[in-house]
This record gives sequence, structure tokens and C-alpha cells, in this order.
Amino acid sequence: MRLILPLPGNEALARRLADAGRWELGELQTRRFPDGETYVRILSEVKDKAVDLVCTLGQPDDGFLRLIFVADAARVLGAREVTLIAPYLSYMRQDRRFQPGEAVTSRSFARLVSSSFDRLVTVDPHLHRYPALSALYTIPAEALHAAPLLADWIAAEVDQPVIVGPDEESEQWVSAIASRIGAPHAVLRKVRHGDRNVDVEFPDLSQWKARYPVLVDDIASSGHTLIEAARKLPLLGFRRPVCAVVHGVFAEDSYERLKLFADRIVSSDSISHESNAIQLAPLIVAAIASAEMAREDIVRHRRLLEPGDEVSGVE
Ligand code: R5P
Repeated sequence: MRLILPLPGNEALARRLADAGRWELGELQTRRFPDGETYVRILSEVKDKAVDLVCTLGQPDDGFLRLIFVADAARVLGAREVTLIAPYLSYMRQDRRFQPGEAVTSRSFARLVSSSFDRLVTVDPHLHRYPALSALYTIPAEALHAAPLLADWIAAEVDQPVIVGPDEESEQWVSAIASRIGAPHAVLRKVRHGDRNVDVEFPDLSQWKARYPVLVDDIASSGHTLIEAARKLPLLGFRRPVCAVVHGVFAEDSYERLKLFADRIVSSDSISHESNAIQLAPLIVAAIASAEMAREDIVRHRRLLEPGDEVSGVE
């Protein structure tokens, strides 16, 4: 039995997951005590169930302690296993000590999550200097890929696209998307001078000028990467681009500012935002269902091998 339990703000995605997977949708009560501490109560029965906590981590510092309390409560109340479904996984970008004394928060965060959950499911985590989530998470951690969904959206909505990645890191998504839809692609060169200070340099894109530029990135966080790339495209003779991102964090007023330079901005629903146009539920449900089937297969095999079964006695 599987219970999908949304943390506050994740109800819509959790409902889509529960509906598509035909799983039970659970309910949680949570509030703040007058002193600011967090109260949590799981209103659904969790005993002997696989409990999936749905909590995207676009604003991790606000609700992380609450998330850990719920995971802990589910376990103490008898959940068979507790999985974190975090379509956007935070704290992946501080992946090394850039300055002496800095905390490598990706590692600290991974340690905290790994000590509270049995399993993690996420979408396109920012794996730049880490080869895989297993390099920092000690629990099974599955990274799903939204590139095919972005590609299908672009193929359906944009005529004659050229797919443009704003930096070398985006090459992986950009090339996958371009090859799926048979479009050309290019990658820009980004130099980041600070959190809000980014430069992008363009290679010669003149052969694609007649095409519709689609800027694709994994994350729009401060938004500066996309703003800078979108701002420069018309100066090079292109029309205003479409911007398509997996994770629309859109901090501060970045969405409003990007709108000044973009024709259209779309994101997946990994973080709830008005730009959401691409639903991740089918991708996540398929991953949970196939992991569930694999586990059932293992249990069946183990039962067959137990003494007293029809297989026992075979030499
Ligand atoms: C770069 O490493 C990523 O792929 C994104 O380009 C970056 O995280 C976007 O950040 P921002 O929106 O703050 O420029």
C-alpha cells in the first residue's frame, strides 16, 4: 500500500500523482506554535505503508525542519518506508568550496536528507561537478529527466526552433532536446561574476537567424543567466526567444524582468509558478510504479527461495 502525503504547498502535484498512480492521498496538519516552533500531525494511517512525502525544495530553508519532523513521525508510526519526492532538489549548486572556509552545503544537505529518508526521487538535479546523486546521497536516489517532456513541448509549440543553451553545463539538456526533435542547437559561454552578475558570450549563430530561438536551462534561479542571454539575442538579429526551464525558481522579480526580453516563458511544475506548462506527474508516477514492481519481483523471488516452497529441494 502506498500513501502520497503532500507537505504544505505541494497538494496539487500530490493529487496528480495519487490520481495517476491510483494511490491513497494522505493529509497532514501543521501549524506554528506561538513561539515559532512547528507542530505536525499526520492525519492518515501510515502503518505498514510506503509513504511518499511530496515536497519540492524551491524554498528549502522555510520548511525543511517540518519535512524532517513528518518523515520521522511517519517512521515512528510504522511506515514501511519513507520516500522524499522532491521534484526540485535544493542545495546542489554549492558543490565545492569556492572560497576558504565556505560550507559545501550540497554535502551537508545530502547528509541530512539521507539520515531521514529511505529513498529520494527528484528531477534533473543540478549535477555539475558530481557525477551522480550517489556521490553525495547515501540512500537510493533517483534522478529523473525532464528533457523529453521539454522537447515534446517545444516540438508542439514552436515553429522552426533553434535550441540554445546559456552555458556549457546546459549542453547535456540542449543536445538531448535538439536531437529528439531534429532541431539545431548551440551553447553560449557564461561567465558568472557574482550571484546577480552574469555575462554570456555568443558563438556565431548567424546561420540560424530565421529560426525561433528557444533558450533552455535546468534552473532559472536569480534569472540572470536567461535574462542576459534573452537580452542579447535581438541585438544579434534574432526575434525574442522562448525560454524553457525545468525548474522555475525565479527569485525576487526575475520573472517580471525576463518577461521584458522573452516572447514566452515556460517551466515544468517542479515548482508551482505561473509559467508552469509541463507536467511532471507522468514521469514521477512511472518511476515510482516501476520501482514498486521491481521490489515486488524481489519479494516474490525471495519467497520462492524460502525453505518449504516449491523451489526448495532443488539442488
Ligand atoms: C548553471 O550552472 C545552471 O545550469 C543555470 O544556468 C543557473 O543555475 C541559473 O542561475 P541563475 O538563474 O541564478 O542565473
